[in-house]
Order: sequence, then structure tokens, then C-alpha cells
Amino acid sequence: MQLADETDSGTIIDFGSGWGNLVIPIAKRYPHRQIIGYELSYLPWLTSRLLKQLLGLKNLTVHRQDFYQADLSSASVLVCYLFPQAMQKISDKLRLEQSNVNFLISNNFALPSWQPIKTIQVDDFYKSPVYLYKISNKSENEYI
Ligand SMILES: C[S@@+](CC[C@H](N)C(=O)[O-])C[C@H]1O[C@@H](n2cnc3c(N)ncnc32)[C@H](O)[C@@H]1O
Repeated sequence: MQLADETDSGTIIDFGSGWGNLVIPIAKRYPHRQIIGYELSYLPWLTSRLLKQLLGLKNLTVHRQDFYQADLSSASVLVCYLFPQAMQKISDKLRLEQSNVNFLISNNFALPSWQPIKTIQVDDFYKSPVYLYKISNKSENEYI
């Protein structure tokens, strides 16, 4: 949330939105931004859909869909809390596809071959890192 405050005003997409632990608070915090979640597992997806309706979050959409197939043309910020192999595939997707993604925020797992512009630590037992990447100007951020 702290790092999302440092991004622009565009659409935020959560890759693997689970039960809505992140998309629900984000949708509440930014009522004027579009918030989109992608989640494959049925129960977590259904729960987040019900919470959206109960809380009247009109700016939130939760798709039951594979995020690797997501259309990123409207996305400004990606957020995720996944696993290393997924981060590699996301890195490949960002390189290969034309998108307007400006920032990526990743909880715990780094984006291979990209340089974070900021890293903070969560106040948990493991002091887990959360990375902020600037994506728009790829040539400045990529390692060759
Ligand atoms: C560690 S959980 C994170 C949940 C939530 N974003 C959070 O921060 O609490 C990762 C979620 O990603 C989902 N997921 C994994 N691969 C996916 C894919 N290809 N498409 C959509 N969802 C996926 C899993 O089902 C799981 O709910």
C-alpha cells in the first residue's frame, strides 16, 4: 500500500488476487482508480467477488482467469505476491508485450533481470522485502 502511493493514478492489476487481501483494501483506498484482480482458484475468487458486492466497490473487477493471458493495455501498475517461476514468466511477458505498465510492486519475490527503484521491508517475522520496479523506460532498468 505504501509503495502503491508512489505510483501514478492509473489502473492497478493484482496478479493472483486470492481472497482479496490486497485488492479489497486497494479498491477502498483508491476509489477513483480502476482495480482489477486475476485469480484462478474458485473459492478465493468467489469470496473476493462477494466482498466486492457487499462493500459496494464499483471500481473493483475480479476475473477468474489466468493472469498470463491478461490484457495489460489498460494497466498502469501491477502488484503480485507469487513465486519465483511466476516472476520469470511475468518478466518475459513484460518484455514481449506492448503495454502501458509503469510500475510493478512485488511482495517477497524479485523480478528477474530488473532493478528495483525501491525496496522496503514488511514488519513481519522474516522482514520480507517488497520491491517497487519502474517499468516504463525498460532500457534504463534492464540488465543486459
Ligand atoms: C500467495 S497468493 C496471493 C494472494 C493475494 N494477492 C495476497 O496478496 O494475499 C497467490 C495467488 O495467485 C493465484 N495464482 C497463481 N497462478 C495464477 C495464474 N496463473 N492466474 C491467476 N491466479 C493465479 C493463486 O491461486 C493464489 O491465490
